Formats: sequence, structure tokens, C-alpha cells
Amino acid sequence: MAIFSDDENIQKPLDINKRTKNKNLETKETAFDKSFENNIRPKKLDEYIGQSALKSTLKISIEAAKKRNKPLDHLLFYGPPGLGKTTLASVIANELEANIKITSAPALERPRDIIGILMSLKNGDILFIDEIHRLNKVTEEILYPAMEDFFLDMTTGKAQTVKTLRVPLPKFTLIGATTKAGELSGPLRDRFGIIHRLQFYTTEELSKVVSRTAKILEISIDEDGAAVIASRSRGTPRIANRLVKRVADYAFVKSDGKVNAKIAQDALEALNIDDNGLDGTDKALLKLIIEKYDGGPVGLETIAAALGEDSKTIEDVYEPYLLQEGIIQRTPRGRKISPEGYRLMGYKVPSLQQQLF
Ligand code: ADE
Repeated sequence: MAIFSDDENIQKPLDINKRTKNKNLETKETAFDKSFENNIRPKKLDEYIGQSALKSTLKISIEAAKKRNKPLDHLLFYGPPGLGKTTLASVIANELEANIKITSAPALERPRDIIGILMSLKNGDILFIDEIHRLNKVTEEILYPAMEDFFLDMTTGKAQTVKTLRVPLPKFTLIGATTKAGELSGPLRDRFGIIHRLQFYTTEELSKVVSRTAKILEISIDEDGAAVIASRSRGTPRIANRLVKRVADYAFVKSDGKVNAKIAQDALEALNIDDNGLDGTDKALLKLIIEKYDGGPVGLETIAAALGEDSKTIEDVYEPYLLQEGIIQRTPRGRKISPEGYRLMGYKVPSLQQQLF
């Protein structure tokens, strides 16, 4: 509930929680998530919830590739973490009845890392590279002819005797995933036939994800319980799936194991996750902009230094959801709190005049 001050000039904050990181709300993938997500991952596009525009495009491309008996064009997925880029890649592989090799750019340090993987592929295989914006230059240059013409350019010999060899590769599809499409080099980006941004999920879509996961895990949950979890999951299935398990544990210990809206609310309160899915760091960030910088604009580096966070973490993990929800705004001079942000944090929204001066 928001608290509004009567006095126009006084900013009265809510008694917000101390700044605590909430592991349940982090979008970074842990080893636990990896094995857990593998178990609950949808296998077919029809089972995959949300991203409907992307799914329609993919259905056509997959069918065309199958009919032509040709590999699918290389695909690039970008967007905030936890939205299902890896899941989608494995769904595509399933739809194509192809094998998938999953790796990430930091694991492809030496030329022989990428060469080894490329040479182990078979016709029609999918190669998935996560965090593809982090590829080094040498690896990237090995990928260019591999993606374009399915060749590896190898050199043998030394000095005057050096020879270039074109080694043919199987016709594979590269699926790249990144949270930072802007950091991809132009030549690499240009080699992807399909480039798509994954969107945050609506509460309705997340409710379906929650119900589906609960069913697989044999957790009893009603529609309202699923909606409560969905509305506090920051538009992110990875978070929703984590919360289902935490809420189910709570229901099991505190009650009869069945999840309804009340149990879900109590469990999430006990986990210190507020009605909007904001955690201690989000709130500290918003409070900082409101109280120390009069609502902004304030630079990212300043915010990061004041919070003792890495600016990349703020930019990649915290900001996307706050921006998407219109809680903060990005301006050329830095980040600004929006009227909605003031309201959410329990502050009076300053008048336009106050905002200008
Ligand atoms: N689990 C994680 N993401 C999902 C999605 N988009 N659809 C179904 N289950 C999921």
C-alpha cells in the first residue's frame, strides 16, 4: 500500500526493507536452475508458453526448413536473462528432430575450442552459443565462413610454405543468445537470418508457466495461487519456476501442501518478495534516485557506486524490469524515477513544476 504525504514538500518514504539481495529473484542461471529447468523444459513449440509472435515466425521457418530439407537459418535471440532463450533453442532442436550442442562464449577461449565443436557436428545439428556477445575476435572470425559457407579456413605450414585449407563442415544451425545485442559486432550480427527479441511475460502467461511446472512437479496449486506467484515473478519464467518450489515447500511445512492465494501470499511475504516482485536492491535503487537525486536524472555509474554494485549488474539484471514496468525511465542524462515509481515506493508524486526545478 502506498503512503502519501500531505505536505507537498516532504518526501515521506515507506518503511522499506533493508537492502537485502533476494536469491529467489535473481535472473542469473545457477547449476540448480540448469538441472531443474531441464526437467520442466517444454519439448514442443505448442507447449512453450508466451512469445507468440516469435513462435509464429519459428513455426513457418521450421516447416520450410523441413520441407526443403535444408538447415534452419542461423538465429539470434536477445533480451533480459531468464526469459527462456536456451529453452527455446532446445524446443527448436526437438521440432527439427536434431541434436543440440549447448555452450557459451566464455568456454570458447582458444581456436581449438570452437574448431573441435564445429567438427563434431552433424548435418542438421544445432549449435547453441549463450552470451554470444562475449566471443573473442579469433573465435568470431572462425565462425564467419562456418556460418556463411559451412567451411573452416585452416592454415598449415610456416612462413613461405603456409597454405590455406578449406575444410568442409556439416550444414548446421547456429543459435546465438545474448542479453546485449548492441555489443555484438556488425559482421557477426549480419550473419544471422532471424534476429528476435524475447519479451517479458504477462502475468497470464506466467500463471500458465506456474501451473504447468506445478503439474510436472506434482504440486497442488489453484488458479489464484498461480496468479499470485506469477504477479511477483518480474515477467520472468525462471523466477516463477523458482518461486513455485519455494511456495510449495512453505505449503508443505505450514499447511496441507496445497497452494492457494493466501498460502502463496504468506510464503512470498516470508521470502521478502513484495507485491510487485521488487527486492531490496530494487528498492534501494529507487529510494536513492528519489531521496538523493530528487528523482533524477542520475548516471548509471553514480547509482552503481552508491549501491556498491557493479554497473553491469544494475544495467543487465535490475534495470530491464524496472524500465519495462515504467518504474524508471532512461534519459540522455541518466535514470529518472517515473510517477509510477514514486507511487510504488509510497512517495507523493511531485508536481510537474517541482520536477522541472
Ligand atoms: N518454462 C520456462 N519457460 C517456459 C515457457 N515459455 N513455456 C513453458 N514452460 C516454461
